[in-house]
Amino acid sequence: MEERKPLIAGNWKMNLDIGDAVNLVRSIGASLAAGGTDREVLIAPPFTSLQAVKEAIGDSRIFLAGQNMHWEMKGAYTGEISGRMLQQVGCTHVILGHSERRTLFRETSNMVDLKVKSAVLLGLIPIVCIGESLEERESDRTFAVLEDQLNASLQNFRADELMPGSTILAYEPIWAIGTGKTATPEQAQEVHAFIREWIEKTFGQVPAREVRILYGGSVKPSNIEELMSMPDIDGVLVGGASLKADQFIPIIHYGT
Ligand code: PGA
Repeated sequence: MEERKPLIAGNWKMNLDIGDAVNLVRSIGASLAAGGTDREVLIAPPFTSLQAVKEAIGDSRIFLAGQNMHWEMKGAYTGEISGRMLQQVGCTHVILGHSERRTLFRETSNMVDLKVKSAVLLGLIPIVCIGESLEERESDRTFAVLEDQLNASLQNFRADELMPGSTILAYEPIWAIGTGKTATPEQAQEVHAFIREWIEKTFGQVPAREVRILYGGSVKPSNIEELMSMPDIDGVLVGGASLKADQFIPIIHYGT
């Protein structure tokens, strides 16, 4: 049962120039080579750094992810990138439906669903983000909002009644992103357990056991251990603290 390997993912968002990105990934790679950890480590740099970062990763065990993609394979979509293009520069994963995409760029769960389908068809592993706002939490609507997001963002899986065990979900309460306010480990665990129950109810026991659920929102070296001690928290999606080697490396090596 405890086969879900911890995943530590860094979402660099629109930060770091190419040189800084390469330096940071080299430091992460060196720490993995020295430390021999069994954790999976993943980074999602801006599109323009992907190629250089992939080269800098070399033989290190660091997975590369895009921060977004379009659902079509190609065409007249100015400013967009396809999943295939991400794969060509070495991405194995893609973050989809991050709350910044949903709120700042009006991305809907239906759009996320199309992207998830396209990613899975290509063999890219989607990291599907969901999360409630402060107002939704305070009005006791957290579970209803999350259930709606799950139902709509994973519609295609539901239609096929199949959720691949490699799919990754990320619970990121919007009120905890970049604010310094972390959900308490108990608050996060409560939601993760709810998400796992939803997976079981919708797709059965096997995906419920296999799918990893990450927590994201102000993760830092001082709270990683407590978060990771929770039974349904299988990893973290780190924003701000993934931009600095002296914060991200201790997060990767938590508990060692
Ligand atoms: P944060 O961002 O760690 O800076 O709160 C998390 C995220 O947006 O994935």
